[in-house]
Amino acid sequence: MGLLYFSALLTLLFVYSRADTPANCTYEDIRGVWTFYEGERSGSSNVNCSTFKGPVTYISKVKLDFPDVAVDDVGNKGYWTLIYNQGFEVVINYRKYFAFSKFKSSSGGNTTSYCDTVLPGWSHDVLGKNWACYNAQKVAPSVEVKSHQNPMKFFRVQAPIWLSVSGELWISVAGYKGLLIDN
Ligand SMILES: *[C@@H]1O[C@H](CO)[C@@H](O)[C@H](O)[C@H]1NC(C)=O
Ligand SMILES: *[C@@H]1O[C@H](CO)[C@@H](O)[C@H](O)[C@H]1NC(C)=O
Ligand SMILES: *[C@@H]1O[C@H](CO)[C@@H](O)[C@H](O)[C@H]1NC(C)=O
Repeated sequence: MGLLYFSALLTLLFVYSRADTPANCTYEDIRGVWTFYEGERSGSSNVNCSTFKGPVTYISKVKLDFPDVAVDDVGNKGYWTLIYNQGFEVVINYRKYFAFSKFKSSSGGNTTSYCDTVLPGWSHDVLGKNWACYNAQKVAPSVEVKSHQNPMKFFRVQAPIWLSVSGELWISVAGYKGLLIDN
């Protein structure tokens, strides 16, 4: 029996992927004086801060300075670190604070960074206990709102399939060929 093959370009899969589109805040955007608005320090490590708005129990002013010095309004000294361009961590007065810089993304891939404020973050003592949520607002110097367009990523997958009348099904995906069914 002669084999009759036909080839079908089965599908052209288009996968549009838009990863998290985080803020783009630089060291100079973050450096300066901040006010921290912290809630009750009674949570556990699974405290959910995503919608934290208060009540605020502790208010402190922290100056984040060169190169990584943090000083609060009562003279405690600590340090701070930028986490990529997405957020920052401060360790001061036996507590550790982390928050992501605030950003908003449109469906078109336009991300706007608000580097003088944060999405609600987490704090805990240096032993990893007594968790709290906090918000932070930069006092000075001021930072401009900025936006950038995220690059779009496209992936194409071509999957031609050859069928034979003898019941063989050959599949070729991205160069790989194998016999799947053979009667
Ligand atoms: C982030 O900001 C820096 C400095 O303004 C700029 O050089 C860089 O291209 C920006 N990155 C993105 C993804 O927009
Ligand atoms: C935290 O709470 C928000 C709003 O209630 C919810 O959408 C989110 O899934 C929660 N996150 C976790 C990790 O539980
Ligand atoms: C992104 O959105 C902001 C705020 O809506 C707007 O001002 C800006 O022009 C937009 N940028 C781009 C590259 O589309």
